[in-house]
Amino acid sequence: MKKLDTKQLRKAYLDFFAERGHAVIASASLIPDNDPTVLFTTAGMHPLVPYLSGQDHPAGKRLCDVQKCVRTGDIESVGDATHCTFFEMLGNWSLGDYFKQESIAFSFEFLTKVLEIPVERLAVSVFSGDEDCARDEESAKRWISLGIAKENVFYLPKKNNWWGPAGMTGPCGPDTEIFVITDKEKCCEECSPACDCGRYVEIWNNVFMEFNKTAEGKFLPLARKNVDTGMGLERTVAMLNGYESVYETDVFRPVIDLLKQKSGKGEDFIRPMRIIADHVRTATFMLGDEKGVTPSNVDQGYILRRLIRRAVRFARILDLDSSILNEISALYVSLYGEFYPELAANKNKIADELAKETDRFQKTLATGLKEFEKLLGYIQNNRISGKAAFRLYDTFGFPIEMTEELASDAGVTVDTEGFARAYKEHQEKSHAGAEQKFKGGLADNSEATSRLHTATHLLNAALKKVLNDPNIQQKGSNITAERLRFDFNFPRPLTKEEIEEVEKEVNDAIQAAIPVVCEEMSLENARKKGAVGVFGDRYDASVKVYTIGDRSMEICGGPHASNTSELGKFTVVKEQSSSSGVRRIKAVLG
Ligand code: ALA
Repeated sequence: MKKLDTKQLRKAYLDFFAERGHAVIASASLIPDNDPTVLFTTAGMHPLVPYLSGQDHPAGKRLCDVQKCVRTGDIESVGDATHCTFFEMLGNWSLGDYFKQESIAFSFEFLTKVLEIPVERLAVSVFSGDEDCARDEESAKRWISLGIAKENVFYLPKKNNWWGPAGMTGPCGPDTEIFVITDKEKCCEECSPACDCGRYVEIWNNVFMEFNKTAEGKFLPLARKNVDTGMGLERTVAMLNGYESVYETDVFRPVIDLLKQKSGKGEDFIRPMRIIADHVRTATFMLGDEKGVTPSNVDQGYILRRLIRRAVRFARILDLDSSILNEISALYVSLYGEFYPELAANKNKIADELAKETDRFQKTLATGLKEFEKLLGYIQNNRISGKAAFRLYDTFGFPIEMTEELASDAGVTVDTEGFARAYKEHQEKSHAGAEQKFKGGLADNSEATSRLHTATHLLNAALKKVLNDPNIQQKGSNITAERLRFDFNFPRPLTKEEIEEVEKEVNDAIQAAIPVVCEEMSLENARKKGAVGVFGDRYDASVKVYTIGDRSMEICGGPHASNTSELGKFTVVKEQSSSSGVRRIKAVLG
């Protein structure tokens, strides 16, 4: 096998497919544009969903790239040999061009000729067929015709050999997965790539996208058939070099070495070292992303906060203080900056935000941990109550997952449902407080901000209408007593005419004196009704939905004006770029 490092494998892959007529496209942002059902880009195909669904791609019908991906579902497994929260996926696509025959032949040639993997070390799986889609004899025959031994071709069901959609709906289909056979013996008679004994290591997946999964769970045929493939970069490099884990590859080794050197600790502490290496890398890519995330208590920002805080906690296990996170992050910027120029460009922002968040956490962590120890002294039934867990969250900034992990280390459990209840009660109280103040007319500011809040909803709706783009979404909002600021995804500056039209649209709604109606419902119901809104707060089963006639329906905490006529005249004072692909509007009410 060719012992390539990550830089060499990226290049070999892109060169191979470019030579075969594929346009090399850049990695998209880690924050998906078109999919409110997930927080991060989870696969190479994710940013390509509109094209896999039928739109023409400007670069043509054959594409390839290296895509930044984040998957946080397996965060507890990070630290073993293969799990990472961030990874790079190599991929090639056919948009209505080649299908199974060529796709399999390309993969076979790349693996056996370029990577020089002996054919007898390769195994594949294909879809065994069900009521949605026939058994994939074509792929099996193709593999065998190229030289894969019959006994190394496995037919597996949907659970194993079906990929997608990436979110809840969208393009998907049967796949054929490619594995390298390791030296491990078969674990049993039926040993196959479906078992996790470690004999078969998956390196590549070719998906034959023939279906669109609808919201009702139906699989409808796509007008044009596509191929979507994905190969994990780090995992393949580890396999080629005979490494036991991805943490031995060139992107991690300097970081693990730094941790060993700074802590003076060795292999006994490899798990915390890997966790720190993984989490800091993911945090660096999130902070440095072209759409940039910053730590917060919701959505992407919450995941980022959790990763940073978890890394700090594991640094403490190595007796290192949190400044190590910045050192490691700087190392990543230099390791990756050439291939991902956004990291180099955002170098200072990454360092500042990381330092701010670690400082914030450091300040409360020590007292919080003491509080946790105390708590262990007087809990009943080996269970931490929801209220106590909430206090750790509210006062000491402990994400609930961290309390759960600390609890599990200490052999006790946490009442997470009780936590969710306490969280919700707290939210309701703070909303009630704000509304009380508002009703009493005590706070002029909150009256002004309520009006600007309502104007923001009208603006959001007006932008979608005037720019004729249903994919426009709120990317950020900030309201002071004087002005609103609204960020949204859109690829170019607005023209003067468009801005005027947006103003007119909002002012028309104000003139029409429309009541602003608030209803409470489940997040699920709100989604069904078509309410827009930033991804729901995970602990809050019930949400408020504000409706303004037939113009706007948004999930929002409020408070709002009760009628649009209270708003006055709406004027846009500035339209500018916020970050790549994101525009920012500042507006006032006069
Ligand atoms: N989209 C496919 C995957 O992620 C290739 O495995």
